[in-house]
Amino acid sequence: MADTLSHIKAPITDEMVRFDAIFRESLSNNGGLLDKMLEYIMRRGGKRMRPILTLLVAKAFSKGEGAAEEDNAVIFKALHAACSLELLHTASLVHDDVVDESDKRRGQASVNASFDNRLAVLVGDFILATSLREVATAGCGAMTDAVANLGQTLAAGEVKQIENISTADFSMENYFDIIDKKTASLFECCCRLGALSAGAGEEQTAKICEFGRNIGILFQIRDDIFDYSDSEAIGKPTGNDMREGKLTLPVLHVLRSAPDEIVGLARKVKALEAEELDISLLIKYTREHGGIEYAQDVMEDYYRRCMDYVDSNITDASIANSLRLYVDFVVGRES
Ligand code: IPE
Ligand code: IPE
Ligand code: MG
Ligand code: MG
Repeated sequence: MADTLSHIKAPITDEMVRFDAIFRESLSNNGGLLDKMLEYIMRRGGKRMRPILTLLVAKAFSKGEGAAEEDNAVIFKALHAACSLELLHTASLVHDDVVDESDKRRGQASVNASFDNRLAVLVGDFILATSLREVATAGCGAMTDAVANLGQTLAAGEVKQIENISTADFSMENYFDIIDKKTASLFECCCRLGALSAGAGEEQTAKICEFGRNIGILFQIRDDIFDYSDSEAIGKPTGNDMREGKLTLPVLHVLRSAPDEIVGLARKVKALEAEELDISLLIKYTREHGGIEYAQDVMEDYYRRCMDYVDSNITDASIANSLRLYVDFVVGRES
């Protein structure tokens, strides 16, 4: 996995080194417990999928033949935009583990488990504010606007997800609406900010934003499939979605033709009344009745859309290659 990621990052090797420094710097020197928590969070970096995307997009659209000053301005904006988005993502994970009562993240105890809920909420707020400062540093009003809108959309998606638990709704439409808001919007914004850094035109920007959105949907479906497996390598608990009352694509598919007792189990999950045995039965039923394969077929459709976009729109061969590997990675990732 690390190897594929390093191939993806090949055209932005220098930028990723600078990114890491800016990211670390943005969260340092606050003293006391706050620094201790921030250090703890930074100890296990994630895969950096979002900054990688922003930087690749900025590079794809920057002319590369402008004056050095012009290129530097593009990189400066893209780096701070990427930092802002990774911070917003990090804050949302710290808060997510409080909301989901999850005790593991990135292979270590979650912030709420290692410290407590109060501190996790507060350090998440701190990181969120840092994200806003970083996008302000990029110095582009349209970017600040996009990050502010994104923060609203992510939170709205999480609220909708909770709202959805208490309804008897098993529709795919709701599922897609939620993942669009809570995950795809962030990938879309990565592309938007990359394009804005490089001063891309409106049409190009709209197209790359749609590409980002499709990657985000792919990403979340892949993530949701993890929850039906029992691999330790994922670095976070599995089976948790159902424990939280969430039904995702694989089970929603099998529910369309499931017998009453299985639908009954799904109702119990949504009512937060399911026991561990109910959950394992429902997961087993889903696996044995093509739920995972169905979700993989849906992924295939989004995968094609992403690849078609790259084939017809990205002219720089090395960036196109990285973006293709990126999409492959999202589909094939194991954590
Ligand atoms: C986790 O995202 C949150 C989801 C959208 C499912 P990642 O899997 O990219 O998290 P890190 O940053 O690599 O830990
Ligand atoms: C992760 O959502 C956080 C956001 C996408 C905002 P989930 O709760 O679905 O993902 P994991 O499994 O905890 O990473
Ligand atoms: Mg979670
Ligand atoms: Mg969650």
